[in-house]
Order: sequence, then structure tokens, then C-alpha cells
Amino acid sequence: MYRVLEPLETAKIKFKNRLVMPPMATQKCGQNGEITDAVVQHYSERAKGAYLALIIIENSYIDVAGKGMANMMSAADDDMIYGMEKLAAAIHAEGVPAVMQLNHAGAFTTREITGLEVVAPSAVKSEFVPGDDLPRPLTVAEIKKIISQFAEAAGRVRSAGFDGVEIHSAHGYLLSQFLSPLSNQRRDQYGGSLEKRMAIHREVIAAVRKAVGADYPIFLRLGACDYAPGGSTIEDGVRAAQLCVEAGVDILDISGGLCLQHPTNTGPGYFADAAAAIKAAVTVPVILTGGVRKIQEAERLLEAGSADLIGAGRALLADPAWAKKQMDTLA
Ligand SMILES: Cc1cc2nc3c(=O)[nH]c(=O)nc-3n(C[C@H](O)[C@H](O)[C@H](O)COP(=O)(O)O)c2cc1C
Repeated sequence: MYRVLEPLETAKIKFKNRLVMPPMATQKCGQNGEITDAVVQHYSERAKGAYLALIIIENSYIDVAGKGMANMMSAADDDMIYGMEKLAAAIHAEGVPAVMQLNHAGAFTTREITGLEVVAPSAVKSEFVPGDDLPRPLTVAEIKKIISQFAEAAGRVRSAGFDGVEIHSAHGYLLSQFLSPLSNQRRDQYGGSLEKRMAIHREVIAAVRKAVGADYPIFLRLGACDYAPGGSTIEDGVRAAQLCVEAGVDILDISGGLCLQHPTNTGPGYFADAAAAIKAAVTVPVILTGGVRKIQEAERLLEAGSADLIGAGRALLADPAWAKKQMDTLA
């Protein structure tokens, strides 16, 4: 049997196979982040036939001060729950579980909030320069507020009927800014050692756990490595992953830190170096995403032990029936 077709069962969530749709912003929401019919259709089309084990919904802001892009999805207030329920129900109607990703864009929110030019995370790549382009540090009171906003949004995700919640700590957004020594220059309890740079993560995870209860799956998308001089290393990513699991994360979703792409490896599973190191060091399932366009590539990554589940993003954006067509190529 192909590994990609093998089910994976944890105490909290079942995967019918190993193929996952990773979170990808559609920017099809309304101006206030409300879920539109176009969004529901986008996800239904990709859930159709239940060839995917899981769909992770695009990043949703927990507070308008953490909104990272136009027409971004919102989980920031109770008015959003109605649309969230519709979306969860539409995906479930096709037989696919769905998890919603929560985000605070940090320095990538609007200029009115940061006082900075808006910089797309993808433009940061490995050339993130600490110094003048950093906004003022958050106060501790602001950090505490963000932690409770993550928890409140997670409660909405659960009450809307989703099968889990994912905390976004990758691609240069707020939580990955805390993890990276390039962007985190704090000298208080939230900066300095890796443990301190991960303090906000641990508080967010604990607060989310309190909001969703013990039985609910918490995913965390970890930007495991910055692949940049002075940035966080794979070793840091391994320790960060362990801290997340100790704090209560059930599934780790591995991607880049301040980068969305690997600076040198563009092949299938380009973050496999980080994912494999993390998988070897934790007991929870690991998702690996990046550069996978064929199911045979996913199979090879699973065979190599790089991860437990494989994400295919742009392939599914380009073709909603990608998973079915790929499964059909397996003899
Ligand atoms: C249009 C677009 C939007 C994305 N939005 C998100 C997002 O909301 N949250 C996130 O964690 N990653 C986001 N990503 C990154 C993808 O989840 C994925 O990691 C990346 O595309 C690499 O995987 P792929 O080669 O399979 O596409 C986005 C990627 C694209 C192309």
C-alpha cells in the first residue's frame, strides 16, 4: 500500500490519507473579513470527492490590528461565526475535516498601526534586515491582549464546527517575528534566549487550550528555520517544536520562518530538512509543505521519513481536482 494512502489516527483527529491542503489566503472575503459565497465555493470545490485528508483554511485575523492583507478572513468577532459555520458545513458536506488558521500579522499589518511601509512577507525572503524597518516593540499589556484574542478566536473556530484550530507562527508574521532573533530584539521576558522568544507561543497555546478544551486538536504552523545569517536555525526549530508540544500542540505544520521559500532548495518538500529533524524529536504528527506537485513526490517524502502528512498548496490552487487526478495516477 502506498504510504500516502495510509490513514493516520491520533486520539483527537483522524486523517483518511496523508494529503493536506495547506492554508492559502484567497483574499475573497468581504471588506470586514466576512466569509463570502465565493470563499465557500473555493473550498467546496477542493473538498469535492473527499480525496484530501484535511483542509486548513487560510489565515484569519484575530484582531483588526493584526490584519495582514486586503479581504483577509476574520475570526475577530462573534459576527463572523455565521460565515464560519457555513464554511465548515460546506466542507464537511463533502466529507473532509477542516481546521482554521489564526494569525496576527505583527509588523506586516497596516502602516497606520506600525508606522512602517507595508512589506509583503514574501518580499522578505532571507534578506530580512533588523533595525530601522522594525516597528516599536509591543508593550506587555498589548502582548497579553493578543494572547487573549488568539484564545477568543479559537473559541469561535470551535463553536463554528471546525475540527481544529491552527496557530500561525511562520512566514514573518507576529509569532514568527518573536521566534526569530533577527526581528525579536526585546530585552524583557519575551526576548533573548530561545525559551524567552517562545514565551508568547507558550502563553498563546495555553490560552487557546483553555478556550477550546482538552479534546480539541491544536495545530501550530511553525516557521522552523529562517535560513538567514543570524536567524533561527533548524536546531532552534527543533527546540521550538518541542516547547510547542510541551505547551499542548497536537500537530506541527512545518514551513519557513521569516521566509516562505527555501533560499536554495526549490525541490519537492523544500523544508524537509527542518521537518525531518523535528519529526525525529517530537511524538506528534508533522505536516510538511512546499514544492509538491505530484503524489509520487509526496510518497517519496513520506518514505524518507521527512513527515507524516504532506501539504500541496499551489497545485490545489491551480487545479481544484488535483488530489483526485493524482490519486488516479497510482496503480
Ligand atoms: C496565494 C497563497 C496564499 C497563502 N496564504 C497562506 C496563509 O494564509 N497561511 C499560511 O500559513 N501560508 C500561506 N501560504 C503558503 C502555503 O500554505 C504553502 O506553504 C506554500 O504555498 C508552499 O507550498 P506549495 O509549494 O505546495 O504551494 C500561501 C501561499 C500562497 C501561494
